[in-house]
Amino acid sequence: MTDSSSDAPKPPAAGQAMWGGRFSDKPAELMQAINVSIGFDRRLALQDLAGSRAHAAMLLKAGVISSEDAAAIQQGLATIGEEIAAGSFPFREEYEDIHMNVEARLRELIGAAAGRLHTARSRNDQVALDFRMWVREACERTAALIQALQKALLAKAEANAETLMPGFTHLQPAQPVTFGHHLMAYVEMFGRDASRFADARARMNESPLGAAALAGSPFPIDRHMTAEALGFARPTANSLDSVSDRDFALEALAAGAISALHLSRLAEEIVIWMTPQFGFIRLSDAFTTGSSIMPQKKNPDAAELIRAKVGKALGSFNQLSVVMKGLPLAYSKDMQEDKVPTFEAFDALELSLRAMTGMVLDLEPNAERMAAAAGAGFSTATDLADWLVRELNLPFRDAHHVTGAAVKRAEELNCDLPGLPLAELQKLEPRITQGIYDVLTPAASVASRKSYGGTAPDQVRAQIKRWKEVLQ
Ligand code: ARG
Repeated sequence: MTDSSSDAPKPPAAGQAMWGGRFSDKPAELMQAINVSIGFDRRLALQDLAGSRAHAAMLLKAGVISSEDAAAIQQGLATIGEEIAAGSFPFREEYEDIHMNVEARLRELIGAAAGRLHTARSRNDQVALDFRMWVREACERTAALIQALQKALLAKAEANAETLMPGFTHLQPAQPVTFGHHLMAYVEMFGRDASRFADARARMNESPLGAAALAGSPFPIDRHMTAEALGFARPTANSLDSVSDRDFALEALAAGAISALHLSRLAEEIVIWMTPQFGFIRLSDAFTTGSSIMPQKKNPDAAELIRAKVGKALGSFNQLSVVMKGLPLAYSKDMQEDKVPTFEAFDALELSLRAMTGMVLDLEPNAERMAAAAGAGFSTATDLADWLVRELNLPFRDAHHVTGAAVKRAEELNCDLPGLPLAELQKLEPRITQGIYDVLTPAASVASRKSYGGTAPDQVRAQIKRWKEVLQ
């Protein structure tokens, strides 16, 4: 068919831009340098192939391409899939991005039929599709990693449902709690994180393929067919929105930022608990590093790095927000800058989640040290006040006052509250009896907090049981 001697335009030659028909000169090197995205969007290769396979199948069914062309295209795409898996696919800068790299390779493999794949499609809906599928998978992977972390926390919590530790407010000893209860607080946080990813995933699960450049397509395409083939609930309903929306990435990054922030809080606690001054937990050699100069050191580097990586997660959300801010409809090249922050944020988050899971499984509480600390700092003062309210019917404010005086007296006598003689207590409130000592130990304090969600071991075990069922 092709007449090589005529002046008729030919399909783009090797190395020539796919869009080069109306151009007579090559782009400047600097233009290429700023434009090229294959260095990072090669991570969308598998999504790009999946989208192309679904698109080609749909074009065949719609009668837009012949069965011979469709077969050649599917064959070529399968070969490309094998090349990618084998690591032999040539990712080439001269083809700018992943979409044109795949198409250029397809042309090398199957010839002219490759040029029909791009019928009723644009890179604008193509990249929107590929990136959305990548983010969708990232949400699934992250949610699974969060659940693995929750299971690790649950296992530690179950083993420590009765292990006493000080509960803090203002990082000052407040009331005794159990280590299991403390760990279960993180199970709740990460549970919300996982559900945020699930929400985001459900909302993003609409296919933009077929929106084409921005206005839709004059070909009789079936967007429902491609949406279904690619696992989407439905096609997106507005072609302009389809190619210009990156909410899905923003939402995933926002969920990721919150999750990274939770990780950083747990990481910070691990750092604190690991200090010799606290000595609440031990980490094995597997999750610590030494110092090159101070032989005695055992540093919780993984926890510190997790604490720091929240910067990447929050920064990426900020970065993409700034990229999207003020962009007119529909697609603008600015949006090519959506991928790097998103990839980096999820890389950091996934690594952090894995490392945190490893650390949680690794850590061993020093129960004696924690129990001793649980009783320090007059941590059962509230229990004393509550006893006065319950047993003597004192108004809580008066009970608070009496208890304050008891703490002051204990400080003067250099003892703790359970060590304060009854005679001393009776000087403050004559109706106090021996029974008060039943509530002044950390174990009694913890056991008494049976309200729903409280730190009493039975309550903690009930929550562990509930979560085990949820995470089945
Ligand atoms: N590499 C581009 C991106 O990531 C693909 C879309 C390009 N579309 C265009 N009209 N130049 O956004």
